[in-house]
Amino acid sequence: MTTYSLPDPSHFVRNIHGKNTHLIILTNPAGMQVALTDYGARLVSALVPDKGGNLVDVVLGFGSIDGYLHAHEKYHGATIGRFGNRIANGKFSLDGEDYTLAQNNGPNNLHGGEGGFHSKVWDRQVSFKQKVDFYYVSPDGEEGFPGEVKVNVCYELTNENEIIIRFRATTNKPTVINLTNHAYFNLNGEGNGDILNHILQIPSTHFIPIDDNQIPFGEESPVENTPFDFRRPKKVSEDIGQDNLQIKAGSGYDHTFVNPSPLSQAAATAYAEDSGIQLQVYTTEPGIQLYTGNFLSDDTGKSGSKYLKRGGFCFEAQHYPDSPNQPNFPNVVLRPGEEFQSQISYKFNIVK
Ligand code: BGC
Repeated sequence: MTTYSLPDPSHFVRNIHGKNTHLIILTNPAGMQVALTDYGARLVSALVPDKGGNLVDVVLGFGSIDGYLHAHEKYHGATIGRFGNRIANGKFSLDGEDYTLAQNNGPNNLHGGEGGFHSKVWDRQVSFKQKVDFYYVSPDGEEGFPGEVKVNVCYELTNENEIIIRFRATTNKPTVINLTNHAYFNLNGEGNGDILNHILQIPSTHFIPIDDNQIPFGEESPVENTPFDFRRPKKVSEDIGQDNLQIKAGSGYDHTFVNPSPLSQAAATAYAEDSGIQLQVYTTEPGIQLYTGNFLSDDTGKSGSKYLKRGGFCFEAQHYPDSPNQPNFPNVVLRPGEEFQSQISYKFNIVK
């Protein structure tokens, strides 16, 4: 059995473009331990007790800043912005102005571009053992987006083994915003096999179908009689291999589910029988992207194991993909004088 521990903080002391990086550690009285770094305002580790009382690190990631800098997968645990997910052809219009963004994912803009929020060193303020705030000012025109945006991401570890992430943002010009967290989870422990054996439950009656470039057609579609029906708990493996056009378009699950009751009910739940660890996600956001790590390959993680395809899954709570170009999707425009606020909470339980 793997014994998990937090990474060595000295491996997170680095200077990136003139700014120092750090490892920040939060602990709660229940014994849960969380590590974060200001490089990407990122979740590095979450040590959660399993059904035998052993601490299991359920978040994929690396033991040093260099690990993050050299990884194939750039988004491990990171705060994603200014716009999470895809914007078709890297283009959108707002108030009659056309904007062109980098095309860093085929023809699309993905996760704010190569220089998105995941790649920035944020300022930090640690409040006691259970809370850290990260701050970043994104300049007007960064990665092609209009307006100077001030962002605050606060991580709090509660006494109930819950990581609450609160996002806030303001702008000085009209812009679009879609913030999320890109943690990959494996509830049997990072590096411990794939997540095909995890049991998921998602109460959504509808999901957002995508085309071959992973861009929505602009509609919500019923999950009924499709591999996307997780209303009753089901293993990831059950339908992921189905001969289904949407599964093919995502190379597995890589789709947004419509959140039926933001914050009042878990938008998604995952459970691993071996560890007995359950993860519930509560969010204010209208959608939750289930991504089953279809493109993971080749990176070696914290405890020396390779992160292979489907070695982790993400529950990315956010607005729908390509919203700036989809008039029927919930609003993503942020204007001067308004404050954007959203919340994601990852709650860990033991279910025997
Ligand atoms: C996207 C995937 C993408 C991945 C990159 C996810 O949020 O939905 O399509 O490959 O991020 O890490």
